[in-house]
Amino acid sequence: MRLKLLAVLASTVSGLLPTLENRFIEEDDGSVKYVSDYTEDGGSSSTSVKTIRIATSDDDSYAIDTVQRDASSPVILNLIPGISLLQTDQNHECYFVNTTIGTSVFPLIVDTGSAYLWVYGDDCQQELCQAASVYTPSASSASTSTETFALAYVTGTASGEVVQDNIIVNRLATTEQFRFGVADQVPDFFASYPVSGIFGLPSSDSSSIESIISALYDSNAIASKRFSIALGEVGISQENSSSEFNNAGIFAIGEPIKELYTGEIKYSSLLNDAGTYWKIQIEQVVIGDTLVQFNESDTINGVESTIARAAIVDSGTTVLALPEQDALDLHTFFELSITDGTNFAVLCNSTLNINLQLNGHNWTLTADEYLGDPYASDSPFYGYCVSNIQGIQGMESWILGAVFLKTVYADFNLEEQEVGFATRNDNVILTSTETSSSSSVTSQAYYGNVTEVQSSLVTSTSTASQTTSSSTYRGEGLALTVTLPTIFVSVLAFLL
Ligand SMILES: *[C@@H]1O[C@H](CO)[C@@H](O)[C@H](O)[C@H]1NC(C)=O
Ligand SMILES: *[C@@H]1O[C@H](CO)[C@@H](O)[C@H](O)[C@H]1NC(C)=O
Ligand SMILES: *[C@@H]1O[C@H](CO)[C@@H](O)[C@H](O)[C@H]1NC(C)=O
Ligand SMILES: *[C@@H]1O[C@H](CO)[C@@H](O)[C@H](O)[C@H]1NC(C)=O
Ligand SMILES: *[C@@H]1O[C@H](CO)[C@@H](O)[C@H](O)[C@H]1NC(C)=O
Ligand SMILES: *[C@@H]1O[C@H](CO)[C@@H](O)[C@H](O)[C@H]1NC(C)=O
Repeated sequence: MRLKLLAVLASTVSGLLPTLENRFIEEDDGSVKYVSDYTEDGGSSSTSVKTIRIATSDDDSYAIDTVQRDASSPVILNLIPGISLLQTDQNHECYFVNTTIGTSVFPLIVDTGSAYLWVYGDDCQQELCQAASVYTPSASSASTSTETFALAYVTGTASGEVVQDNIIVNRLATTEQFRFGVADQVPDFFASYPVSGIFGLPSSDSSSIESIISALYDSNAIASKRFSIALGEVGISQENSSSEFNNAGIFAIGEPIKELYTGEIKYSSLLNDAGTYWKIQIEQVVIGDTLVQFNESDTINGVESTIARAAIVDSGTTVLALPEQDALDLHTFFELSITDGTNFAVLCNSTLNINLQLNGHNWTLTADEYLGDPYASDSPFYGYCVSNIQGIQGMESWILGAVFLKTVYADFNLEEQEVGFATRNDNVILTSTETSSSSSVTSQAYYGNVTEVQSSLVTSTSTASQTTSSSTYRGEGLALTVTLPTIFVSVLAFLL
């Protein structure tokens, strides 16, 4: 059903960049041939034809919804156009997808926390650009303009010119040229990642920026303006297929993929001030059995609360990033936890669950999920693990990054202005010849000062005021070496 619009009758194959019309050929038996006359590696073009089954609404065999699914037998998910494997870096800090721009392929970070798609350009003189694939406007049918773009990140600026070209992602092509940024300047922290830019996925189009999802919709590549993400390895690893199916998640453009979740998708509406973010309300946070009462209040759709929090769902952020004070408040639930003000460490034997209530439904982070790397046995912090929850000064909303997204199947709907989450179905076998690759990235270390966080609940003001005094942040010069879950703070980027 979801690909019905793609099954356009046509029989000619022409040009390097396939249009929808020439990519799908319907056969008499209802199956559809997918004709590919390009290669995704940017090399010379070759022609290959494979037959895939495009389901129709009256096709019983495809009605996964109504088929009794045997819990023990896996479902098969064919990685048809629209569905693609994600790749990740060695430390699993960012997730990226191969994107064809013009005639070359670029690994771009799938980032629901930024509005803009941009790629390293051939004018970028920095070392990190020399080491990556760069886009050359003159190599394809790109139309350049005199417009420029600039995006400020906490650690630097990405800027350059605005260009239009054809884009193919997940084997779906834009038929109109798409506007995106070609950077001649890139923040240095990108050097840590084997990528060539950002695949921004805003929650709405603005006058200056169109979402690639809207562009694909306008090109009839998808039937509705939505996409879904399952971060982290999906499916059952099969014998002898470890490399072929080594995957870091799935990025699907169009309708949600029923094979990838169980039960219903529970939706939360975007907040009034969401802008281009996927910003929703966390109604309450319960740690263990205790409702968290935050010290600072947050205003959500005009209502002040110390219980509810606004949260941005951001596939481009590695961890859970919280306003400094909220991070401190939350870690007081973890006995003997320590912090340098930004990074936290908690005892590795912590067992408390963190429940986030979204539109009446609990999503639980277990210790496995919020505990990061343990400290080595020769460290003074042996017994502690890095917390996957960070506090960031100056931040106003929570950021639900990959640490959260890895626990759910997430559907992002531009038309309905909502984000939905469902329980992952990992009892699925992926079939395709797609592969993922990862490059080696040196791990980063962080050096800072630590001190203990008050281990009692923030219920009395006396406890609260102790934890806030600056001496508790900047302690006695203890050197805490944190293998930092480097936050990819793309969400803090804004258009200049
Ligand atoms: C992405 O592209 C690179 C380079 O062309 C290739 O090596 C890799 O296998 C591709 N990965 C996926 C998942 O398509
Ligand atoms: C996997 O590989 C082993 C050794 O190469 C081989 O004996 C076995 O038959 C293979 N299994 C499958 C399912 O292909
Ligand atoms: C979520 O879980 C907490 C802790 O178990 C519980 O107190 C709360 O009532 C739950 N909320 C919902 C909506 O189930
Ligand atoms: C958790 O670990 C700490 C430090 O290693 C230890 O002191 C404490 O007894 C442990 N708690 C439990 C419940 O095992
Ligand atoms: C750590 O503490 C020392 C001494 O109090 C101080 O000079 C230094 O700036 C602190 N470092 C950080 C990263 O806060
Ligand atoms: C909580 O807020 C109050 C009032 O703004 C302040 O006095 C107190 O120090 C805060 N406590 C913490 C732990 O930050």
